[in-house]
Amino acid sequence: MKIAIYPGSFDPVTFGHMDIINRAYKMFDKLIVGVLNNSSKKPLFSSEERVKIIEKLYKDTKQIEVMSFDGLLIDFAHQVGAQVIVRGLRAVTDFDYELQLSQTNRVIAPDIDTIFLTTNLRYSYLSSSIVKEIASYGGDISEFVDKDVAIEIKNKIITKRS
Ligand code: PNS
Repeated sequence: MKIAIYPGSFDPVTFGHMDIINRAYKMFDKLIVGVLNNSSKKPLFSSEERVKIIEKLYKDTKQIEVMSFDGLLIDFAHQVGAQVIVRGLRAVTDFDYELQLSQTNRVIAPDIDTIFLTTNLRYSYLSSSIVKEIASYGGDISEFVDKDVAIEIKNKIITKRS
């Protein structure tokens, strides 16, 4: 069984991430969306919340599983039996970091390969941070995230302010 992991912070998941998920899951028997439990980054959503948000989006897609992970990505990949890591490349600015990440992971775990999908041009500028910034000023984020995700973001911002 060919299993791949699509890892990330997903704080929150955007249309750019969904573009990668929607294309990647068709290439494997199973795609695990791995949500990094990165408490040091002070995320807007807890890892449990981020997992639930993505699970809801893909509740009807059996090949997609959503899990949170701590620690090294390659340890998580070995735990779940994944042979491939999927990452999205938006622009050349992503390349240095992604190359370093994939080369290092390959030195630590030569049995796991990283593949890159270039993000749809429509979302090549998009990041979770930009979405959060626009939402924090009350801007319209409907072009960037699913409508249910937009509601979650607005509710979270209101809760955090009160
Ligand atoms: O969405 P992001 O924040 O760009 O995702 C980065 C992620 C989760 C892929 C990366 O930070 C990661 O793999 N973290 C887990 C810790 C790890 O394995 N670090 C060593 C990588 S060389």
